[in-house]
Amino acid sequence: MDFLKPRYMPMNRRRRIYEGKAKILYEGPEPGTLIQHFKDDATAFNAKKHEVVDGKGVLNNRISEYIFQHLNDIGVPTHFIRRLNMREQLIREVEIVPLEVVVRNVAAGSLSTRLGIEEGTQLPRSIIEFYYKNDALNDPMVSEEHITAFGWATPQEIDDIMSLAIRVNDFLSGLFLGVGIRLVDFKMECGRLWENEMVRIVLADEISPDSCRLWDIKSNDKLDKDRFRRDMGGLVEAYSEVARRLGILSESDNPPPTAGPSLVKH
Ligand code: TMP
Repeated sequence: MDFLKPRYMPMNRRRRIYEGKAKILYEGPEPGTLIQHFKDDATAFNAKKHEVVDGKGVLNNRISEYIFQHLNDIGVPTHFIRRLNMREQLIREVEIVPLEVVVRNVAAGSLSTRLGIEEGTQLPRSIIEFYYKNDALNDPMVSEEHITAFGWATPQEIDDIMSLAIRVNDFLSGLFLGVGIRLVDFKMECGRLWENEMVRIVLADEISPDSCRLWDIKSNDKLDKDRFRRDMGGLVEAYSEVARRLGILSESDNPPPTAGPSLVKH
């Protein structure tokens, strides 16, 4: 396939399609493709808090690549094609469903605040929540009724999104548990991918410590963006630790890479 060849334009001649808080999307080398560029910007509370954290984009690009490639390999459909360089990956162009899909395994963050459940409490089962992607409204939580009534997704698409969310949660929970990390919760986004007159729901955007809560299984240390949200410091160190445990730090990095994820016994 043509788009698999490394034939992308130099950065300054590319057309910028969209710029978000942590990423930029550029026109891709072939129709139906885009280039997803990971910035070093860290934001929280709808960008009221903002900092540039050197190296965050490179780590998220690698961690997200690792996760999306493995999901592709086990037949979970995603927008990911391949990583291009330290900060960029080639993706399929999709129409983003305007929902943030949050899957929770352990109480934390807004669930703990809203319902008064202590952070760290194991939930009776995984819970899926939907938030309407709208910065002006602060991404309000919505129900399936709102989603279908306002046409953000059809009932069939909601079913597909929930099945996808469960598969991604199962995969990620196992992946992280194997390297001594508890997947507390995460946020994912979905897109509509058109292929031969057919449209289907695929996983889009990124999955990284920016969009997950990841706690060390033994110490409960936070290895995610809560370090930034809660002014704890050590963000790059925490993201590097996630990358290191997954065995994906490059050869120039310290400590040296392992052959794969390092299994943690507990
Ligand atoms: P919450 O507890 O603040 O609702 O967050 C739930 C999960 O979603 C957590 O892993 C962080 C992630 N998240 C994002 O990726 N983007 C966001 O804008 C928010 C609010 C949360």
